[in-house]
Amino acid sequence: MLRQSIAVLGMSVLAGCGVGEATDASAADELIANTESATGQSLSSSETDGARLFALETFDGNGRTCATCHTANFGAITPQQIQAAPSSSPIFRRIDADDPSSPYPTYNRLKRDATVLVTINLPSNIVIIGQPNKRSITVPRAVPSIVDMAALDTTIMLDGREPTLQHQALGAAHAHAQVRREPTAKQLDQIAAFEKKLFSSAATYRLAKDGTDPGLPQGRTDSEKRGRAFFDGPQSACGQCHQGGLLNMGGFPLNIGVSAFNKSGAKTYNWGIKDPATGAVTPLADAFTGDSHSPDPGAILTTGNPDDFNAFKMVSLRNIKNTAPYFHDNSAKTLAEVMDHYAQLFSLLGFEITAQDKADAIAYMKLL
Ligand code: HEC
Ligand code: HEC
Repeated sequence: MLRQSIAVLGMSVLAGCGVGEATDASAADELIANTESATGQSLSSSETDGARLFALETFDGNGRTCATCHTANFGAITPQQIQAAPSSSPIFRRIDADDPSSPYPTYNRLKRDATVLVTINLPSNIVIIGQPNKRSITVPRAVPSIVDMAALDTTIMLDGREPTLQHQALGAAHAHAQVRREPTAKQLDQIAAFEKKLFSSAATYRLAKDGTDPGLPQGRTDSEKRGRAFFDGPQSACGQCHQGGLLNMGGFPLNIGVSAFNKSGAKTYNWGIKDPATGAVTPLADAFTGDSHSPDPGAILTTGNPDDFNAFKMVSLRNIKNTAPYFHDNSAKTLAEVMDHYAQLFSLLGFEITAQDKADAIAYMKLL
């Protein structure tokens, strides 16, 4: 099914095995061929080695490879793919169960939202009020599309916590694939080199190669033209943030209320910030709702800066019609739900997004 979708799209992305299909050398060959055909450039031998590691190497862990989650579907994974996977698929591992400590693990969250559990240590000044000894948190996060981002984003991870692609790959190998054999520095370099060759289109490849900005399409229908004015016109409802080649300011983390609204219904915690001198704890406050409760406080877990409470990486909007679900928790399953979210957010600021605005913005985003 995935192979067909690649052929239909005409432009390649990560390829090879679907979730749960046996990984074999031909899957890696297909990944390499598709990556090369997207850019018209051959991969170097070290990038080719990186592709094989990405698609096939389990490092004697729980059977997962990078491609278990970053699949042929633009480097991400959808609820539909997970629902279609056999129960023997390595996507189903206890660490991502609804309750990882249960002897009979269920995977309803994974199947509904395609989110994976990520454990992050708290910075020294950030506390969970009422649980002073809890120094790490486990949060459900979307598997982001990794095409375009490796070559072009300066922010790595949905909270920006990783300094390099190599360090990220090492962390992913341990956290998601529970590896028992340590990846070497050379292997990590090869994986990173390969990731930097993944592009969603010839236009984003040119952007990485020589800085040619793909720009914004004009739109042809009346709805698309209105959508462009809404997205990037003088009132600039969206373009004030969604700027730059991938329309994401390099991935700059900002708060747009996704954690505060918590539409995926994840467990929330009451967050506070501790004064290092006095030890006094003050509740944090979401910039829109003022609430100190949040399922996932985002970039503050990296920076310890209260301005980053509930802030998340702005991911690329290029190719957005193909990378549902949306937001760091996959809480918006469609672009219509994205627009419902922005309507709720903008109404808090006294600005109305009408049904027509929503339809026009969706028509326009499908051109990006
Ligand atoms: C179990 C699923 C899973 C596996 C396996 C996995 N990842 Fe990921 N990956 C994720 C999730 C979830 C995130 C987002 C995590 C976050 O922001 O906290 C992510 C984020 C990333 C990012 C950053 C994307 C961005 O937009 O900033 C890169 C790059 C990446 N993964 C590469 C890899 C590599 C390389 C491997 C193999 C060594 C790998 N991943 C294995 C689930 C997975
Ligand atoms: C204040 C800056 C800001 C504004 C204004 C803004 N966005 Fe965003 N956008 C973001 C950030 C940050 C994210 C990621 C949020 C998250 O995951 O929690 C995002 C995520 C998205 C996503 C989901 C991307 C994905 O793949 O997950 C879409 C689609 C999107 N924005 C479209 C729009 C549209 C349409 C508008 C105008 C109505 C808009 N944005 C206005 C900052 C902004």
